[in-house]
Amino acid sequence: RKLRWLWRAPLVASLAGIAYIGWGVYEERNPGPQVEPDPSKKTLVVLGTGWGSVSLLKKLDAEHYNVIVISPRNYFLFTPLLPSCTTGLIEHRSIMEPIRTILRHKKASVKFYEAEASSVDPERKVVRVLDTSEIRGDVIETEIPYDMLVVGVGAENATFGIPGVREHTCFLKEIGDAQRIRKKIMDCVETAAFKGQSQEEIDRLLHMVVVGGGPTGVEFAGELQDFFEEDIKKLIPDIADRFRVTLIEALPNVLPSFSKQLIEYTESTFKEEKIDIMTKTMVKKVTDKTVEAEISKPDGTREKITLPYGLLVWATGNAVRPVVKDLMERIPAQKGSRRGLAVNEYLVVQGTRDIWAVGDCAVAGYAPTAQVASQEGNFLAGLFNNMARTEVLEQRVRELSGSLNLQPGNAAEISKEIEEHERQLRRIKDIKPFHYSHQGSLAYIGSEKAVADVSWFNGNLASGGSLTFLFWRSAYLSMCFSTRNRLLVINDWVKSKLFGRDVSRE
Ligand code: FAD
Ligand code: NAI
Repeated sequence: RKLRWLWRAPLVASLAGIAYIGWGVYEERNPGPQVEPDPSKKTLVVLGTGWGSVSLLKKLDAEHYNVIVISPRNYFLFTPLLPSCTTGLIEHRSIMEPIRTILRHKKASVKFYEAEASSVDPERKVVRVLDTSEIRGDVIETEIPYDMLVVGVGAENATFGIPGVREHTCFLKEIGDAQRIRKKIMDCVETAAFKGQSQEEIDRLLHMVVVGGGPTGVEFAGELQDFFEEDIKKLIPDIADRFRVTLIEALPNVLPSFSKQLIEYTESTFKEEKIDIMTKTMVKKVTDKTVEAEISKPDGTREKITLPYGLLVWATGNAVRPVVKDLMERIPAQKGSRRGLAVNEYLVVQGTRDIWAVGDCAVAGYAPTAQVASQEGNFLAGLFNNMARTEVLEQRVRELSGSLNLQPGNAAEISKEIEEHERQLRRIKDIKPFHYSHQGSLAYIGSEKAVADVSWFNGNLASGGSLTFLFWRSAYLSMCFSTRNRLLVINDWVKSKLFGRDVSRE
């Protein structure tokens, strides 16, 4: 009899799983009614729909504020899988989550404006916003007042003023960048395969150069070489021995933030994958067909080189966005800050009382990563939820204290209620400052290998290889924003494995 039940257990578990997913899908498609904004409540304006802002919005009890979100992007982008979109391993919509879907699931309605904040006036407490939508053909500008402001606008691409970078290279930060790269790879390949090209021109077109050996550059180089090995080479064998990937890095090694052992592992894996790494090489100028760089030699001399390229991807890190720069100039306490808005341990922008900053635009002493941005967003949500609850409780305590004299018969009962509220207030007010908990760093390095520096029992565990790749995939899959994203990403992985990447050029 026992055995019969054992046999049925998987069936029951499967049915429960299906019911759970079914309920999740139903809830997703049929969100409950939302409370309308209450004009007596404070207006909380959130700039951006990236890692920092969306983590805040996800956990925020929106019913306590009038929340307004402003961003030129009406979706959240899961950046860790963006390099996979450049080759079509993953389709771009699989890693986008519409902000409208996220906001529709809040208890209270939240306003969203697809627009760009051009400046913040901390004196008048207003944000100037621009709607640059092409549909109207002109630019609409307006002001949005705030009581509390969260700046989560991220960062832009650093070019260090190097000539030709903006005009001729592709960045890798947004969905549009990944689509541009995908198109350009195939453009280079198809043009190189055209009849009657000179050998020199074929070599130029098939030379893919990546500048910046940080995680973005390394992951992209790995994905690109995979694309070539797994698909391009098979479909267009004529160009098989001409395709080259070169990674240029100014420092003595790639992935400077990873442990030495993983740096060596990455460099040796790249060698096996036939990706050329040029370290101690600083790019100085880019033209439409060449990249000019300076190599620092061991004897202290410098050599100038010029490399022809077909595709050039620029991944040299972050720079401060103009809206953030402008805000920093308006706040005297931000004078010494260079890399973004200096914040205190509660993420309050130094020199202000009602502006907070999260993610890549905030300088809190941590690396500009999604991990940091999302923890900061979560922290702010907790802080704001507590602040709102504090206000409600304080108001109630004031009301109860006032009624003590009016209802002497109920004095004992009222005093007890006041005491309970005060106890809750003490607990809520004891908010600890933001503390970042580093879970580790992961990076894909091509040919189904990844490297991981993971925190492990107060220590660090460094690992690289195929098992780490499986860990990398499962970690990022679990971190995807929604079940929909997860299913789409799995589908893309399976599809690419079975049928190869789609090489058609849109
Ligand atoms: P973002 O996520 O960049 O969001 C900024 C938001 O602000 C966007 O919605 C943008 O449209 C909006 N915005 C911009 N200008 C304005 C404006 N003027 N007004 C209003 N809104 C504006 N980190 C990791 O920890 N792990 C990884 O594996 C990883 N992989 C990455 C891969 C790539 C290719 C890249 C580029 C980055 C990766 N990162 C990773 C870093 C991570 O993506 C960033 O640290 C993170 O996105 C920062 O979050 P954020 O909210 O500050 O900014
Ligand atoms: P980065 O700042 O980490 O690396 C940029 C690299 O470009 C540096 O090593 C720098 O020395 C080099 N460089 C700068 N100018 C150069 C020049 N003129 N010529 C040659 N090399 C030059 O930038 P990246 O990779 O874009 O990452 C940005 C942030 O996002 C980082 O904090 C990173 O940790 C995070 N990120 C994390 C990922 C992960 O965890 N898997 C993936 C991608 C990004």
